[in-house]
Amino acid sequence: MIDVFPLFSNPVMKHPIDVTDLDLSSVVWGQNYNNSISQSQTVLEQEPFLNLKEECMKGVREYFYNMMSVTDSTEIYITESWFNSTAKDEVHHRHWHPNSIVSGIVYIASEEDQGGDTSFITSKYETIELDIKESNLYNSKSWSIPPSNGEMLLFPSSVEHFVTPYTGTTPRITLSFNTFVKGNVNNQALTRLAI
Ligand SMILES: [Fe+2]
Repeated sequence: MIDVFPLFSNPVMKHPIDVTDLDLSSVVWGQNYNNSISQSQTVLEQEPFLNLKEECMKGVREYFYNMMSVTDSTEIYITESWFNSTAKDEVHHRHWHPNSIVSGIVYIASEEDQGGDTSFITSKYETIELDIKESNLYNSKSWSIPPSNGEMLLFPSSVEHFVTPYTGTTPRITLSFNTFVKGNVNNQALTRLAI
């Protein structure tokens, strides 16, 4: 019997989230490199979005305590949070999220089959690039996930990503957030850490 062990992976979790009845009329927008970003980078601390914050934390807890199996002595919390708006023919530049452990993208509004995919890219250096017959999770250097309203992606903050060109006529709206940890994050000798 053949078995494959996908060791040391960068797990990207898709988690449902309720974004119905979300009112973004209070959001003040500014210019990002190629699209728009909310002027506030703590939107989830604002009264209209406190429920959304709790919904995001349900996914974060699933990722951190269940999938990653981190002990309860470490608390994970949302640090910064902001909205993104990508209009027709715009993109979101390639980036990663420093000073964060797990990051999230919440798909709030977008048109189906109009691009605007979130594309994750490996930063691992390969000695040789081989031609491949068919892409799969073991041989790919990038992986694109189309936007899906009412879904949230959770991923290691160090993984680079960008948004492919969006062609919908109504804006592609997302929430992004970062997290960090506090508490007794490690209780073992020589790696002990309380922050
Ligand atoms: Fe991002």
